[in-house]
Amino acid sequence: TGPDTVSPTGQPTGADQARFAQSGSYLTNAQGTRLPDTDHSLKAGPRGPVLLQDHHLREKVMHFDHERIPERVVHARGAAAHGVFQSYGTAAAVTKAAFLAEDEETPVFVRFSTVLGSRGSSDTVRDTRGFATKFYTSEGVFDLVGNNIPVFFIQDAIKFPDVIHAGKPHPDREIPQAQSAHDTFWDFVTLHTEATHHTLWNMSDRGIPRSYRTMEGFGVHTFRLVAADGGTTLVKFHWKPKLGVHSLVWEEAQIINGVDPDFHRRDLADAIEAGAYPRWELGIQTFPDTPDQTFQGIDLLDPTNIVPEELAPVRPVGLLTLNRNPSNFFAETEQVAFHVGHLVPGIDITDDPLLAGRLFSYLDTQITRLGGPNFPQLPINRPHAPVNDMLRDGLHQTAVHRGAAPYRPNSLDGGCPFTAGADTGAYIESPVPVPESTKVRDAPESFADHFSQPRRFWLSMSPVEREHIIGAYTFELSKCYEQAIRERALRVLANIDPELCAEVATGLGLPAPEPTVPLADVEPSPALSQVGHTWPTD
Ligand code: HEM
Repeated sequence: TGPDTVSPTGQPTGADQARFAQSGSYLTNAQGTRLPDTDHSLKAGPRGPVLLQDHHLREKVMHFDHERIPERVVHARGAAAHGVFQSYGTAAAVTKAAFLAEDEETPVFVRFSTVLGSRGSSDTVRDTRGFATKFYTSEGVFDLVGNNIPVFFIQDAIKFPDVIHAGKPHPDREIPQAQSAHDTFWDFVTLHTEATHHTLWNMSDRGIPRSYRTMEGFGVHTFRLVAADGGTTLVKFHWKPKLGVHSLVWEEAQIINGVDPDFHRRDLADAIEAGAYPRWELGIQTFPDTPDQTFQGIDLLDPTNIVPEELAPVRPVGLLTLNRNPSNFFAETEQVAFHVGHLVPGIDITDDPLLAGRLFSYLDTQITRLGGPNFPQLPINRPHAPVNDMLRDGLHQTAVHRGAAPYRPNSLDGGCPFTAGADTGAYIESPVPVPESTKVRDAPESFADHFSQPRRFWLSMSPVEREHIIGAYTFELSKCYEQAIRERALRVLANIDPELCAEVATGLGLPAPEPTVPLADVEPSPALSQVGHTWPTD
């Protein structure tokens, strides 16, 4: 409490007021005027009526009335932590990103979440988990906004409102909360069979992680790395937990839902408080940046595909350590704003059509959720690099900009000269060729195979993991009211594997249908099984 932050009366002043909240020697109203009492309204006589002229009463209640902001439209329930990312420098040959250079240490903020439940829902429901990381790099903010499942439900962002509407609770009764035991969910994922792969991961043990600390994370899309010499490489990002990958079993998840709905957020906070800092290695799978953007026949622009680790090993490039809990949930965990378009030099996007829609959606939703366009100024979102933008005014503007009107070139403001170019360290979109084509809405033919990759996942599972998957499909589908949806789901399962289909059909008391497409001839990928997961841990 230096003299510049404390008034002569001992009260904190200016920007430090927020930091020092509840620390002054007397209570004030929002204007800094000292209060005599905060427990009794001003009344005309001890038994009232209460007087409208009581500004403290009106201010206190007015502010309380506006304490809530809209929860995220998806991923509303989450928990977060601060940490550091220590680069090994092993990616330096393929990217010029400064935070991936040797010995670089970068502060980070990571938010984990469920997708479908509301802010107050339970932690251990069967769902995908978000794994979003904000790197406060010396070159600006880089966000890696991923999930604990490496594929997505849909291939084109235009279906995102539809898949979420189908997964959220029914509009009339607002049930079920945060579960996939749901007619509209199963209707969607069986009519849009591109969702088969993600749904299978959801029904596997990955859908009920034991802890955020034991989850893998995936950037899902293929991104493009840009090296110092301009060379480009396609890349998929992976987070590998040092504790290994572990899940709950369904019965545990159900009991914990009742006993401790905050199980995952408590586990994360307690571990950090106890000094058992959760750690993940960031790994990259790299692929040549060929014009067709495929790797061994796998379309890298299709976000329902993985590339098996046996075909392209994951190389570790740095270590993430979470070592500090947020001090204020609202200011940090709730107000953090991630965006897949927050990129730094050395990392670029590809033409994945799902990624394109995300580039619009996050910025757009945050204008509503965080009350206007100035949310990058919130402390948790502020870059740790200098900001010199030309964005002005707007709701909740906290900067006091000075000088001439912002435009460039500008001969009046004496500001920095504006020069663009690769040698300035600016973010330059990599000059990849755009294929000559005509406008179409159809998906490419290479997006049409919806069953080979799910079959590979199924074949990679150990017997106990298969048993859990069969149990999950049987339980969730048994909650559907519509028989036709259960039957359609079995037709989808038949195209993954006849044994899986037959077991679930028996559980549901229905006949098992025949496959409608030839079963894919694929090899198992041992790295997909949690039992066989062999990432080095120490
Ligand atoms: C939020 C991941 C696809 C729209 C999130 C969050 C994660 C995530 C982790 C939570 C961020 C946080 O903790 O604050 C993903 C992944 C996707 C995907 C991995 C596919 C690969 C999409 C698509 C759209 C979308 C296609 C829309 C077209 C949103 C929105 C939010 C969100 C609107 C809320 C953001 C906020 O309020 O700040 N997503 N998402 N997502 N996602 Fe996605």
